[in-house]
Amino acid sequence: MRVLVTGGAGCIGSVLSGILLEKGYEVTCLDRLFFGLDPIKEVANKIHLIKDDIRWFKPEILKGIDAVFDLASLSNDPSGELEPQKTLEINYIGRVRVAKLSKKYGVSRYVLASTCSVYGFREEILTEESSPNPLTTYAKANVLAEKEILPLADKSFTVTALRQATVYGLSPRMRFDLAINGMTLGFFKNGKIPIMRDGKQWRPFIHVKDTSKAFTEVLEADPEFVNGQVFNTGSNEQNVQIFTLAKLIAESINLPFNYEWYGSPDKRSYRVSFNKIKETLNFKPQYTPKEGAKEVFDALKDGRVSGDDLRTITVKWYKHLLEMHTVIKEVEINGAIL
Ligand SMILES: NC(=O)c1ccc[n+]([C@@H]2O[C@H](COP(=O)([O-])OP(=O)(O)OC[C@H]3O[C@@H](n4cnc5c(N)ncnc54)[C@H](O)[C@@H]3O)[C@@H](O)[C@H]2O)c1
Repeated sequence: MRVLVTGGAGCIGSVLSGILLEKGYEVTCLDRLFFGLDPIKEVANKIHLIKDDIRWFKPEILKGIDAVFDLASLSNDPSGELEPQKTLEINYIGRVRVAKLSKKYGVSRYVLASTCSVYGFREEILTEESSPNPLTTYAKANVLAEKEILPLADKSFTVTALRQATVYGLSPRMRFDLAINGMTLGFFKNGKIPIMRDGKQWRPFIHVKDTSKAFTEVLEADPEFVNGQVFNTGSNEQNVQIFTLAKLIAESINLPFNYEWYGSPDKRSYRVSFNKIKETLNFKPQYTPKEGAKEVFDALKDGRVSGDDLRTITVKWYKHLLEMHTVIKEVEINGAIL
């Protein structure tokens, strides 16, 4: 079975591609490689790599593809605000394009990488039936993409949207702009966990390997259970308030709990029910935030991961690329991106 992963060289995509290969799938990765080739260098000779953009790739590449996992996007709230129009072009219009072309070219399964941040700020526990409350361009683009892509589902085209919790853990495209990873890095560098004010905000979390596993479980599920469906992707146990999370991180690393506040109070707070994915797919994450923080801390200590690489802070890296006029107005001259 041939699977195309857009954004396959990203944080989740690189882990997911490895898992797919281990399971015996043929993997094609379509990615602009904004973070370079490093994240997929270990699997480069086992996958078919297409360096291109979801907004304008040649549709013929979809011929013979059985399933598409659509992960390419500007992947968090602050990056989405750098150029809101471009965020909509990529995260909304671009992914609708991928889905429509997939259907046209006979792909039988499509999975959209959506996010729990579509829920914004809410008091109650949120299910897939709760109305979204997107507070940022990034979250709005996800809501719009879901709205247009899910109705494409029919008997020959199985469409699923996974509203993923916030990811943590090690990835070949390491991200320290994700709460658990960033707090762990702060602890490693300064002996203090940076906590975003006021610490009472709720957030659901999931390990990068577990969210990748959710994609493969959807792929392998009977279409009857997943077609046209949205699944919150995570587990009830991993809804955590940020201050509590900081304590868990200190415990996992076995250091005294020192912390420092930063930022103005976070407006995003949401607690999510993951009953549907558990009951429908028997989905159970294997990793906990404590395990994730420990693996990240150990990798920093051993030097397997650098805490000073600009590419690990997504918004800073995209800002840097924009400053070099590379992201949107890309011009290729003699193979060099200007
Ligand atoms: N990481 C999380 O916590 C999280 C949580 C919820 C949802 N998501 C969603 O999951 C998906 C993957 O997230 P991630 O953490 O791996 O992000 P990432 O930024 O690490 O990866 C995104 C990849 O997409 C590529 N890309 C961006 N724009 C592109 C374009 N126009 N055409 C082709 N490739 C393009 C980038 O080069 C990058 O390799 C994203 O859609 C993200 O919004 C992530």
